[in-house]
Amino acid sequence: MANTILVGAQWGDEGKGKIIDVLTEEADVVVRTQGGNNAGHTVFVKKQKYVLHLIPSGILRRNKRCVIGNGVVIDPISLVEEIEGLRKLGVKVDGNLFVSETAHVVLPYHRELDAQREVLKGKDRIGTTKRGIGPAYGDKAARVGLRMIDLIQPERFSAQLRTRIRENNEVLKAFGARPLSFEKVNRAYLEAGRYLKRFVTNTVVLLHEALLRGEDILFEGAQGTFLDIDHGTYPFVTSSNTTAGGACTGSGVPPHRMDRVVGVMKAYTTRVGEGPLPTEDAEIGDMLHAMGREFGATTGRPRRCGWFDSVATRHAAMVNGIDEIAVTNIDGLDALETIKVCVAYRDGRKQYDYMPNDIELLSRCRPVYAEFPGWKTPTHKAKRWKDLPPKCRAYLKAIAELSCARLFIASVGPGREQTIFV
Ligand code: IMP
Repeated sequence: MANTILVGAQWGDEGKGKIIDVLTEEADVVVRTQGGNNAGHTVFVKKQKYVLHLIPSGILRRNKRCVIGNGVVIDPISLVEEIEGLRKLGVKVDGNLFVSETAHVVLPYHRELDAQREVLKGKDRIGTTKRGIGPAYGDKAARVGLRMIDLIQPERFSAQLRTRIRENNEVLKAFGARPLSFEKVNRAYLEAGRYLKRFVTNTVVLLHEALLRGEDILFEGAQGTFLDIDHGTYPFVTSSNTTAGGACTGSGVPPHRMDRVVGVMKAYTTRVGEGPLPTEDAEIGDMLHAMGREFGATTGRPRRCGWFDSVATRHAAMVNGIDEIAVTNIDGLDALETIKVCVAYRDGRKQYDYMPNDIELLSRCRPVYAEFPGWKTPTHKAKRWKDLPPKCRAYLKAIAELSCARLFIASVGPGREQTIFV
């Protein structure tokens, strides 16, 4: 399979979990390289639903090594719960999961600050998942974060935590929030540290040993291109690099060892949280919600929905170096008479065929649409490319061409068997 980076080419929730699961079949190692438990990857195996937040979905296949890399921020309590949840469903975790000792730890004051800052922002809020992701990455950049290597050494951890809680309690008090009890947090985190110790290791060395053996590595992205801290619709973004470069910094595997980049995109567009979504449209949103689709895997929030935005996906292809695309949720469009695709943006008389960086300008932009005839036929049972209705194939070819990438996978449902290699 070669070393493959998989990224979301839109605003997250592109259906990456399923594509990762499919590609994992040929990988030896699967690595998560950024984000935290703000992500929710849903995978169905034989009708059993699994929702993964921190652990790579490779864990659902036997004998795949799964790595949580140095670029991830880990809420240890939530990771323990995730491991226990998988065990109960009969998934083997021990011996297959490796957690970077330099990944940063998400602490209760991160979550509390995340929530308080959102309240303070009022109508300008980001709409975060309230998992403490922004403050945890903030501490990492400010060099006051605690890492997994600290968590598994009780004395060191407790000493650092005491200082951090003292400082953060002052901030929480200023917000009018309740201060945290050092003893309570310390106890819960040390317990999680004891549980997780056996998984914590030097994952950079582990990955380079795998490379030396010629093994294939899949780098699974979380969130999407337009939630990237550098390339997304700032400030309505997450706090990590969700684009392809993040796979290198978040794992310690250098760029020249990467062989290809696969971009995952829905056949339409969705977003959770605030911020511009140029093709947002009630017609498609109401239809998808009425079908029971497009509710967030992590927060259960209804996702905002819109037509396929090729200005965005072209930009994603550019910043990620996407070679191939996987288009998901095609069956969500089965009932439509006409399908719109955004081919440019317009603000007054000015037209843009790229994504403007100015967030106010982007918010003003209106989509310029091309229209495609709907196929009005169920596609969820299609197994091969030629099983898809000709109008559906034409639509998929068109969005791939507009996105400047080669169509690689067409996905017509959540199951592994609903995957068409083009
Ligand atoms: P945070 O990552 O919780 O700080 O949230 C920042 C923004 O990213 C918010 O708009 C979230 O809704 C969005 N976000 C974070 N994680 C995901 C995800 O996994 N899928 C989709 N949106 C996400």
